[in-house]
Amino acid sequence: MAELLLSLESTCDETAAAVIQRDGTVLSSIVSSQTDLHERYGGVVPEVAARAHLERILPVIDRSLQQAGVQLNQLSAVAVATHPGLIGSLLVGVTAAKTLAMTLDVPLIAIDHVTAHIYACQMVSREKIFPAVGLVVSGGHTNLYDCRDALTATLLGSTIDDAAGEAFDKVAAILELPYPGGPSIQKCGEQGNEDAFPFPRSFYDQSRLAFSFSGLKTAVLYEVRGKPGHQNVPPPMTDQRRADIAASFEKAVVEVLVRKCEQALAQTGAKNLCVGGGVAANRRLRIALQKMAGKRRIKLVVAPMEYCTDNAAMGAIAWEKYERGLFAPLNIDPTPGLVRAPM
Ligand code: KG4
Ligand code: ZN
Repeated sequence: MAELLLSLESTCDETAAAVIQRDGTVLSSIVSSQTDLHERYGGVVPEVAARAHLERILPVIDRSLQQAGVQLNQLSAVAVATHPGLIGSLLVGVTAAKTLAMTLDVPLIAIDHVTAHIYACQMVSREKIFPAVGLVVSGGHTNLYDCRDALTATLLGSTIDDAAGEAFDKVAAILELPYPGGPSIQKCGEQGNEDAFPFPRSFYDQSRLAFSFSGLKTAVLYEVRGKPGHQNVPPPMTDQRRADIAASFEKAVVEVLVRKCEQALAQTGAKNLCVGGGVAANRRLRIALQKMAGKRRIKLVVAPMEYCTDNAAMGAIAWEKYERGLFAPLNIDPTPGLVRAPM
């Protein structure tokens, strides 16, 4: 029987568990999304998320074991995302993982959630993807990393305000599109003219590896509601206008993301680019990345759709730590903040 690991994920608003073999085969990956609970607020409410994790974590673990046909006593290790994330949410997964590791007397492995998003790319690649530039674009993060190997990542740059996914969610709210904003903006923008509005692209002409999306979000807001203190009344919203704004917004985000990846590749000399996180599911982004990678002869690996948004299967990165004996103490605390050089 292959060695087995249980991986838990509760950093934000998905409660997830996966059973993963040592060779990386995912035997089960259960994700209980809380979208329905946060939808009416237009974003994740931390208190609501923490309570929902508490209710769901045990049934989710049960289902993951059942689907994998695995008993608790067959596990060789328990892994959990300990950072970064919402503290109340993190506490639930970390407490469950500690309890299991202690009672089963197996090692506990701490996962860095952001680099796990990059590792989702390794899971679909036959060859080693590292060294690589890693881009994580999600609801909480927009980070570029210089990844020497799976566990050695140095933060090259990140957003100074909103994350890309957060911008999608907020712009969707401005356009009165459903939450989460990424998929609804993508759908709405399919019928739109991406060149209709020249929205700003922050840091585009600078070599600095940083992102900013709040100016873009404000530009969309002014386009829809008018600029405060200005006489010009914006035209009434129509389906076509909404689609044009959505497509132009998407294009602005995508162009900045692709540009910064190009700059990070040039600065590090890396030949591989790995992209993960919820926004990596975006069609326009995937196409633009492919185009750039083809032109620059870069090997591009984008996380598979099912492992773009939060999941526990990307916790397969824990096997890399297992092999190196990098275990966490049972008194480890979750940490909400980003780690600049995660391990
Ligand atoms: O990785 P994830 O599940 O959560 C975090 O770790 O933050 O990402 C969720 C984010 C949301 O902001 C959502 O709007 C965005 O990913 N997203 C997308 C798409 N699908 C999800 N953004 C753009 N296009 C999509 N197709
Ligand atoms: Zn995430």
